[in-house]
Amino acid sequence: MNCRFALAPMAGYTDFTMRSVCASFGCGFSVTEMVSCRSLIYGAKLPAVTDLLLRGANEKKLAVQLFGFDPSDFREAVLILADLYPDAFDAIEINMGCPALKVTKTGGGSALLSDLPRAAAIIKAAANASVLPIGTKIRTGWDKPDASDELARIAAGEGVSYITVHGRTRAQMFKPPVDYSAIERVKRIFGHTVYGNGDIRGAADALEMFAGTGCDGVMIGRAALHAPWIFAQLAGFAVSKEAKLDAVLTQAREHVKWKGERRAIPELRGKLVHYFADAQNAKRYRFRVQQVQTLIDIEDILREFY
Ligand SMILES: Cc1cc2nc3c(=O)[nH]c(=O)nc-3n(C[C@H](O)[C@H](O)[C@H](O)COP(=O)(O)O)c2cc1C
Repeated sequence: MNCRFALAPMAGYTDFTMRSVCASFGCGFSVTEMVSCRSLIYGAKLPAVTDLLLRGANEKKLAVQLFGFDPSDFREAVLILADLYPDAFDAIEINMGCPALKVTKTGGGSALLSDLPRAAAIIKAAANASVLPIGTKIRTGWDKPDASDELARIAAGEGVSYITVHGRTRAQMFKPPVDYSAIERVKRIFGHTVYGNGDIRGAADALEMFAGTGCDGVMIGRAALHAPWIFAQLAGFAVSKEAKLDAVLTQAREHVKWKGERRAIPELRGKLVHYFADAQNAKRYRFRVQQVQTLIDIEDILREFY
């Protein structure tokens, strides 16, 4: 799982079609959208679950991300994955950062930052059940950065392979600043692979994150939603308009191939809108994307835009 530039999990966005586009631009490691342990336990074969577990043929390293609150659920979910998807993933990742109320009110996601004994029990349960490496994605704490140091110690003790640190507290949600010093401490205490995450939009941000934290890799979230080619740019390559068009067209076509036009088009409207974020006449394009009915409509808009 050691790579310089990784794609962050984003529920509702980073399905295998989007991750494949990122991989085509050199993304070396990505993570599925979060999957609830209970959904695996009670409905592992339902399309709502299996869709989240698909892997693109070109994805280099892929972790499956689990969320939940009960250590025994993690154990069971890990065993189910090993049984049903023995070759699909390179790691199991435990979500300890999700700020959404529907997750935290059950005690999962970032609520684990304020219940470290439970967090430790979850890591132990997953690690004991898994033949795959275990990773975890954390924030720095619930309302102050007081959890990540201890989590780094716990993770090191349980043989965790990597930690991604989103350098914010849960209370911060997505507001600046990103706390480099907390990420730096995790790297120092944990000693193994650490990804720094938060507000990386280009090479300058990535360099600052590397220099300011000593992290091994950076994980890119929202910037990849409107620029999946950021991975090539971070590695120093220029990306032509043609390559961008080709990438977004591929994503749209693969999505339609996967779900059929009737289901794919409404989903694609919400995803494609991000590609026009920086456009001069973004508003007009955003409006047009909301009106698309067919893949041909999408292809027309994209060709015009790029
Ligand atoms: C729409 C959206 C969905 C997200 N879903 C997840 C998720 O499923 N699991 C997770 O660990 N983090 C999730 N995150 C957090 C991101 O992985 C990342 O930590 C955060 O966006 C900060 O990185 P960025 O500043 O590069 O976007 C999500 C973020 C966004 C914006």
